[in-house]
Amino acid sequence: EASTEVDVSAVAPGQTIKTIWRKQPVFIRNLTPAEVADAEGVSVDGLRDPQSLQDRTVEGRTNWLVTLGVCTHLGCVPLGAAQGEVKGEFGGYFCPCHGSHYDTAGRIRKGPAPTNLLVPEFAFLSDTVIKIG
Ligand code: FES
Repeated sequence: EASTEVDVSAVAPGQTIKTIWRKQPVFIRNLTPAEVADAEGVSVDGLRDPQSLQDRTVEGRTNWLVTLGVCTHLGCVPLGAAQGEVKGEFGGYFCPCHGSHYDTAGRIRKGPAPTNLLVPEFAFLSDTVIKIG
């Protein structure tokens, strides 16, 4: 179907949930204040795919990072969404297939992936419900 609605009320800071949208995995992550600060502390100009955290999130809710769980290199599902999985050198996600490291804004920081994890179209229907697509 074209869109999907996800209840994120139980997703605490530091947690990520996975959902499926258009047959692709989607990661919905509630960034901790430290993870937000990490993402905001990066100079965008130096990035391979220059985007700020603000570019990738909704105003006033920059702690909610919504991305496809699909590595932009060759499409593996990165690690870091499930509890206990490695998050890579930049604290976001790590793709074990060929070693791409994504930061806490889901931006490519090291490894072969050409672009940041894709942010699908999404909106908040309420404080606790996100519509993807
Ligand atoms: Fe992720 Fe190659 S598919 S690094």
